[in-house]
Amino acid sequence: MRYPALVGIAFCVALPFVAVPPAVGQEDDVFAFIPLGGRSLLEAALAEGLPNDLTERIAEAEVDAAAWRNILDAAKSGAPAIDGLDSWQADTLAHYLAWQAPFDPAGELPRDGRDMALQLCQSCHIITVVVTQERTREAWLGTMNSPSHVEITTTDAERELLADYLVINAGIPIDLVPPALRAGGASY
Ligand code: HEC
Repeated sequence: MRYPALVGIAFCVALPFVAVPPAVGQEDDVFAFIPLGGRSLLEAALAEGLPNDLTERIAEAEVDAAAWRNILDAAKSGAPAIDGLDSWQADTLAHYLAWQAPFDPAGELPRDGRDMALQLCQSCHIITVVVTQERTREAWLGTMNSPSHVEITTTDAERELLADYLVINAGIPIDLVPPALRAGGASY
């Protein structure tokens, strides 16, 4: 589990925070507590430089997440950008590549689970409803196929990717959620 060690560390001291809605242009900051998805992780790694055999695999390979995790682990010695990922990030990237590759890593990268959560999961309730839940992938897929959610537009592979992203990265303790996103945001 990604978060248990963090519970209770934040906000031990009563800070004089007021729940102010985010100002225009600061959306990125207010969502910074939501862990990066595979697209952002890959973008950063590409900017730092990846060996050609790895970028070629992204353009060609269609393998599952466990296989991608092995490929990433094997690439560590020649790729500091991959070596620098923690285990959760490597898993997040492996699941992203499993559902989205093959694609051209020199082109625009396909959206990741975090991108989808921010794009698709805020119009009826705040993102907190999503990212604070800890669930199995079957439970996430069940939520997305429930009547309230079935009309959200994604491909089947994207739903699987979003579920995998949330299994690895959701369950964020409420202490880590900015006060402005903690309560009162559900409109259903
Ligand atoms: C069209 C409106 C709408 C959108 C868009 C939406 N939701 Fe919801 N969501 C609801 C409603 C209505 C409820 C409460 C009723 C229910 O649980 O079905 C809810 C409740 C939830 C819950 C808590 C209750 C449960 O089912 O466990 C979760 C988790 C959730 N949504 C996840 C998501 C995710 C993930 C997305 C983005 C992929 C999303 N929602 C986008 C309407 C929406």
